[in-house]
Amino acid sequence: MRMYDLIMKKKHGEALTDEEIHYLVNGYTKGNIPDYQMSAFLMAVCFQGMNEAETLSLTMAMAKSGEMLDLSAIHGMKADKHSTGGVGDKTSLILGPMVASLGVPVAKMSGRGLGHTGGTIDKLESFPGFSVSISNEKFIHNVNRMKLAIIGQTADLAPADKMLYALRDVTATVDQLSLIASSIMSKKLAAGSDVIVLDVKAGSGAFMKTCEDARKLAETMVKIGNGAGRKTYAVISDMNQPLGTAVGNILEVKEAIEALNGKAPEDLNDACITLASYMLLGAGRVENISEAKELLADTIRSGKALHKLAEFVEAQGGDKRFVYEPDRFPKARLTATLKAQTDGYISAMNTEEIGLTSLALGGGRETKESEIDLTVGIVFEKKIGAKVKVGDPIAVLHGNEEGKLSAAVSKLQNAISIGQTPITPVPHILGVVEQS
Ligand code: URA
Repeated sequence: MRMYDLIMKKKHGEALTDEEIHYLVNGYTKGNIPDYQMSAFLMAVCFQGMNEAETLSLTMAMAKSGEMLDLSAIHGMKADKHSTGGVGDKTSLILGPMVASLGVPVAKMSGRGLGHTGGTIDKLESFPGFSVSISNEKFIHNVNRMKLAIIGQTADLAPADKMLYALRDVTATVDQLSLIASSIMSKKLAAGSDVIVLDVKAGSGAFMKTCEDARKLAETMVKIGNGAGRKTYAVISDMNQPLGTAVGNILEVKEAIEALNGKAPEDLNDACITLASYMLLGAGRVENISEAKELLADTIRSGKALHKLAEFVEAQGGDKRFVYEPDRFPKARLTATLKAQTDGYISAMNTEEIGLTSLALGGGRETKESEIDLTVGIVFEKKIGAKVKVGDPIAVLHGNEEGKLSAAVSKLQNAISIGQTPITPVPHILGVVEQS
């Protein structure tokens, strides 16, 4: 087999066999296929696409390129949730404890912030002492003991995807549906859960800007997951405004704790209840979604989910007192308020810009090694549809440097539009793909 022939085949729009796809993924991972040939192949995929069978083969080849986590020592059906990346998305901190408190094991591998989006690992590290670098043995032991553990992605998880992602990033070949779907799903399959619930975001703060594109991506990933023998669902959710009110690590952790105390904003509550319901359904814990919703609401009312968060934080070395007394978290030294400049209704929020504003306050990494400031971020008092008068506060920005804070206020102002006509925001949940 020659890479040259495979590039030619794809250039002419022909489908590759499973054997051919494994050959090129393995060859590239081992360093036998050079970047320039793989780049040509990826560009051919961008123009000609891949069919369902090819996309599944690519996913499996990347998933098997490194360690496939063996979670068979965990009792019961393990459920995982994965978001395609959003702003203000703290759902894992809320739904993980909710689902675990109902006895369904949640063995989760999470990432750090990427681009303008935040990451669960950075948020969890807001708890002093918390560690995501626990051994596979401790991970499995913790899930068996209390149904919840979260670790960072290991270097050996789907290394082919890591290499291909870096190449796609510099060859303008990121935004191809089969390539995105296989990249995400290879990591989820390698991470070993039986049930995968995907939160596919659509809108200005998401990778997929339109609901149609998000649906296509959702359908493709659901097909891959089910094709690989995992129970897979995808929830399509709106990312034309931040989820909930807080953006920024500690601010989001505090909002998650509020949510576990029964005080979640409506969109955040809908997101958590919907995603968690499908985790319970896939794991066979409930017969239907309405039963799931009732049980989940009770985990909040009874305080069980909050206690589960505390138990989980403590088991991974964190200080659980912060769960019950969130005022212990450090605060940024300075705040500034963004106020409405005109009367009207908030009509649009450029959510990617909002994520970037939080990063510019110090909440993001400038290099892979840089430390992030966990205290900075934004808390919104108004979101899309809200009526405002000149001078009304829209958001409070939290920062530690005067210069960065005033620049962030201007940046945020440009990200928020005020119109003259009343507007009803779209519901947060735009659809669910169960089987396609
Ligand atoms: N996230 C991933 O992990 N891969 C992609 O290709 C896009 C988003």
